[in-house]
Amino acid sequence: MKHLLSTDGLAADTATAVLDTADELKRTLLGREVRKLPTLRGRTVVTMFYENSTRTRVSFEIAGKWMSADVINVSASGSSVGKGESLRDTALTLSAAGADCVIVRHPASGAAHRLAGWLAGAGTSVVNAGDGMHEHPTQALLDAATLRERLGGLPGRRIAIVGDVLHSRVARSNVHLLTTLGAEVVLVAPPTLLPTGVQSWPVTTSHDLDSQLPAVDAVMMLRVQAERMHGGFFPSAREYSIAYGLNEARLRLLPEHAVVLHPGPMLRGMEIGSAVADAPQSAITEQVRNGVHVRMAVLYHLLAGEGGDRG
Ligand code: CP
Repeated sequence: MKHLLSTDGLAADTATAVLDTADELKRTLLGREVRKLPTLRGRTVVTMFYENSTRTRVSFEIAGKWMSADVINVSASGSSVGKGESLRDTALTLSAAGADCVIVRHPASGAAHRLAGWLAGAGTSVVNAGDGMHEHPTQALLDAATLRERLGGLPGRRIAIVGDVLHSRVARSNVHLLTTLGAEVVLVAPPTLLPTGVQSWPVTTSHDLDSQLPAVDAVMMLRVQAERMHGGFFPSAREYSIAYGLNEARLRLLPEHAVVLHPGPMLRGMEIGSAVADAPQSAITEQVRNGVHVRMAVLYHLLAGEGGDRG
């Protein structure tokens, strides 16, 4: 693997190899007082975030540090981006300075792909840490890792992805990855929060959450992305919460073994009830924990695994 830009087109065996490596890293580090492996000593990883993040930025930093890479965080406000430097010039500068891997979050869909094009031939890997409404591949990988762990496997499992699908890069990456790995996906959303063209996606759709819950193995609640809602007929927070919020009554509709996921940050009381977020069925904290191991595995496959050794 040279870059990780998307789960669209990510082969099942490549995704499974990353997930297996993450499982192995988790087992290796379990219970250790010092969680440091020498694997990426001498490698330099740069995170470059043009949008806010807690989980993704911090877990990539921890992942790099636990593998002994040098990790440098660049934010738009504290760098020359604030003086108007372009994404292209910023990326070329970081690559010239010695970055082996650039992890980028950007509000523009396609930004990570552009970056990978500009860095072609430079020997610098690019990871998409979320580009606009397009994709968030490491989120989908950590979700798959969590579902594999809780459900014992993905083939034949039915996963509901609920809420603001229209604006969600998490939903897009999960649809590609979960279906590639053999799961069935149902998107549950109000009509105005489903993308046009969803009919061509490998999913079914529903506007009725209550009818779907008894037949799913997992329910993935999405964040309502108010910052991306410009115009359009979107439900109010109250309407949304009544029709699509996962409250305690809805939790009781789920099969006993079903898992509740949310990529975070959560709007407690709107998308998900506070008691539901903290219930035994909730794997939200495990998602964050698995995010570190999955991002370690991604860095390993890019920088140290087969094809990642640049001498
Ligand atoms: N899930 C996710 O991407 O969270 P952050 O925005 O905190 O990174």
